[in-house]
Amino acid sequence: MNTRKRPNNLWLGRWGFILAATGSAVGLGNIWKFPYMTGEYGGGAFVLVYLLCIFAVGVPVMMIEIAFGRRGRGSPIDAIRRLARESGRSAGWSLLGWMAMICGFMILSFYVVVAGWSFSYLWKTLSGGLSGASVEDMAAIFEANNANPWTLGAWSTLVTVITMLIVGLGVQKGIEKNVSWMMPGMVIMLGIMIGYAMFSGGFGEGVAFLFSFEIGKLTSEGLLAALGHAFFTLSLASGAILTYGSYLPDNSSIARTTLTVAFSDTVVALMAGLAIFPVIFANGLDPSAGPGLLFMSLPLAFQSMPFGTVFETIFFVMLSMAALTSSISMIEATVAWLNESKGISRAKAAWGSGILLWLISTLAMLSFNIGADWTLASKNVFDWLDFLTSRFLMPLGGLGMTLMAGFVLRNEILKSELALPTVGYVLWLYMVRYVSPLGIVLIFIDSLGLMDLDMGSQWTWWLGVLIAISVFGELANPRLKRQFGS
Ligand code: PHE
Repeated sequence: MNTRKRPNNLWLGRWGFILAATGSAVGLGNIWKFPYMTGEYGGGAFVLVYLLCIFAVGVPVMMIEIAFGRRGRGSPIDAIRRLARESGRSAGWSLLGWMAMICGFMILSFYVVVAGWSFSYLWKTLSGGLSGASVEDMAAIFEANNANPWTLGAWSTLVTVITMLIVGLGVQKGIEKNVSWMMPGMVIMLGIMIGYAMFSGGFGEGVAFLFSFEIGKLTSEGLLAALGHAFFTLSLASGAILTYGSYLPDNSSIARTTLTVAFSDTVVALMAGLAIFPVIFANGLDPSAGPGLLFMSLPLAFQSMPFGTVFETIFFVMLSMAALTSSISMIEATVAWLNESKGISRAKAAWGSGILLWLISTLAMLSFNIGADWTLASKNVFDWLDFLTSRFLMPLGGLGMTLMAGFVLRNEILKSELALPTVGYVLWLYMVRYVSPLGIVLIFIDSLGLMDLDMGSQWTWWLGVLIAISVFGELANPRLKRQFGS
């Protein structure tokens, strides 16, 4: 068995990992991005494909990450290096750990800006700054909020400081302690929001929008967006889940915890849809408003409803908490690495990385005002951080990890870590070796514009490709025969 235990740094409670990992997964991705993407890509059809991506790609990859973390007992860089060595492979695989850590860091540097929007809207709601605003006013308020680098920067700095405070306190006293009240609290608030939405007069329409699976409405763009979002929303390939997994006790079932986290994340995304769309429809607003949906359309809707301000307050408190339980997980990989590998105290590691983060996030924040035209290939800093992480680093890191788990490591290692019944293990291995990598390669082909993907008409063709590479892969892989033969 694994001897590299760090008993002082394991989750304390039975729910420690599940709450922390769900807290990481549930965030702006669920409440801000998922609803507006669903709106843009045609409702139920997008939801269906998204669910498929979560369970066919997201779940197997999350299992890999938790297994890597627990087996390697360390930050992504150290854990992956140890695993590669244990299988007699090159320590160079730890490059994947570097990529993940840097990816988490980069995501956080633009995430704090959006989280800052949430905090500033909470403040606006409480101070009455949104009352009586018309459609035009709302757009103007959103613009004005972005236009002032001092206030916008103050909000994202606040998010950075809170994040670093929590992470600096440590795994149990900082992260576990805070997610233990924030997560349940945020779910209760979301429940209250749905209750409110039920009486908004648009509930039926909202439900129909989310769950009418009209597959014809889905574009190939939507399909690939769904796959990319599956990575983002489950916090994959960014060091978060892997590092949290490194604190998981040996006797927890990886499959069960993964399913719980993925299921909860999905339920929260759907709940967010159920809380938001009815209010949008009841007020005759457009569900496909894009990124402004939460900050322009929703407050507008609340303005015209009874007790709107109360519920708007609850909404932004919930959104801010969801953002914080995610932001802490993005920096944990870096802090764990500085602490364990470099011997820097946790508090110093947190503040040190916080300062670097603050500098980069300030550049991202300036993209909304004075830095709007500091662009490269017509993308500003904020856009680049978003693009490089979700379109490039996450899929590439995910691909690397599936290949490493599927073909590079000794099979016994992950087999014993996952401890699945044979059927489950074979299914997992098949997903990890063929289905997930092919899915990820497709995202790449699409985002790099290498080929005109049209899933509507090409899906039978791609299914053929999947079958062909799996048959070929298994025939060419003598290790597999041995493994199942024995
Ligand atoms: N999953 C988070 C969300 O949906 C975002 C995230 C990405 C968190 C990567 C950690 C790491 O908002």
